Amino acid sequence: MAAPLYEALKKHELQNPVSFHVPGHKYGKVFPEEAAGDFRSVLRLDATEITGLDDLHDPSGPILEAQRLAAELYQADETFFLVNGSTSGNLAMIMACCEPGKPVLVQRNSHKSIIHAIRLSGAKPVFLSPKMDEAYGVPSYVEIETVSEAVRRYPEAKALILTNPNYYGITADLRGAVELAHSEGIPVLVDEAHGAHFVPGLPFPASSIKAGADAVVQSAHKTLPAMTMGSFLHVNGGLIDRERLSYYLSVFQSSSPSYPIMASLDLAREYIENLILSKEADAILRAVDVFKKSVEANKEVEIVTTTDKRAIIDPLKLAIRSAAGLSGFELQRRLEKQGVFTELADIQNVLLVLPLSSNQADSFLFSSDNSGEGSIPFEPLLYKEENQKISMLPLSYGELNGYSKEAVLFKDAAGHLSGEAVIPYPPGIPLLMEGEVITEEHVRQIRTLLACKARFQGGQALKDGQLAVYIQKR
Ligand SMILES: Cc1ncc(COP(=O)(O)O)c(C=O)c1O
Repeated sequence: MAAPLYEALKKHELQNPVSFHVPGHKYGKVFPEEAAGDFRSVLRLDATEITGLDDLHDPSGPILEAQRLAAELYQADETFFLVNGSTSGNLAMIMACCEPGKPVLVQRNSHKSIIHAIRLSGAKPVFLSPKMDEAYGVPSYVEIETVSEAVRRYPEAKALILTNPNYYGITADLRGAVELAHSEGIPVLVDEAHGAHFVPGLPFPASSIKAGADAVVQSAHKTLPAMTMGSFLHVNGGLIDRERLSYYLSVFQSSSPSYPIMASLDLAREYIENLILSKEADAILRAVDVFKKSVEANKEVEIVTTTDKRAIIDPLKLAIRSAAGLSGFELQRRLEKQGVFTELADIQNVLLVLPLSSNQADSFLFSSDNSGEGSIPFEPLLYKEENQKISMLPLSYGELNGYSKEAVLFKDAAGHLSGEAVIPYPPGIPLLMEGEVITEEHVRQIRTLLACKARFQGGQALKDGQLAVYIQKR
């Protein structure tokens, strides 16, 4: 197997290069001594755009070849390496398609990077509400009926932006949605941040690339052995202007992209190819099963399983919950006390991300010492399915500039336009978007999450029982 970028870096390192260029650590020779041992081997690969090492923003050598091999594996026309996470891919693909004042169809439970991109573009978001997964108690995917209605109402939309899978690994077959959008010439952009392992040849749900999506972003760092921030953007077909896309990739990505991150993407792709060739993937599924059985044997937790017949669940995501009525947040805290750190907690669930390896040795046991005590009552279904499946913000982002902001008490917030996004983190999906009408239900959810000590981004005044709202200037 070849990993051309990694190999080029190793070749360069073996020359024992003398550096009179950036970065300042000079391949690790200039570095604080107490940490040098930890960093040195990676710093030896932390090069820059010098002869032989290519340029991410104008690739013609090993980076181009590494991206080409990734495109071949994922069956895309073209793959771009991302060094600023899926965040930068979402920003670039959306800016490449959207236009000021023009509608864009977007799944409501999208990551904040998607909402940021739409706002930057000046496009008019048309939100598509997802289905609620009853078992998990979280939003899952946009139903085909909703997509069909949205495409019928907004055939001039500049893009359909979906998220698949959701954070919990719930996926849907997107073929029908893609066909509907394409029938109007609307490109389909998919945030597949949690699906970098959905590769043909591996026993995981199908990638939206296979469903015909035009641009697909994947956080390789989330489920593949790639360094944090390493991600892919795959592109297919002719609906996306590639020149515009490349331009925005150069706008949103560093002009000094990290070579260790790019090399780790190259190696992650090689790792998957080896999994396929060695038929190791089935062993991974067997190991996942063994791990699940060990969790099931523990009477204090339950594994969450969907009853949705249309949903396909990623086997590398495992949602568990307390059998003793603890909230997900409390269960997570108790696991952390035992040295077990999980991906996220919500009101009911704790989410585990399992390794893409047949070695699932990091099993854990729940101590029964403190189970049951201090159990926190919580409302079983935090999010209610919205009646209105297709909605828009009452005012455009531009119109909101004419308003000022003020903090109001929770009890007075309903009916106002939210002055900021309130984002439980993780998962990073806005519970309340800036400019959205605050409802009693939003306030109820925020109060419940605060009572469970959930973490938030935004919502600066939440701790004081207040929300920022827009007020018309006098
Ligand atoms: C659905 C989704 N999209 C995008 C992102 C952003 O990905 P990254 O951290 O690679 O920038 C995340 C991060 O958690 C996510 O959950």
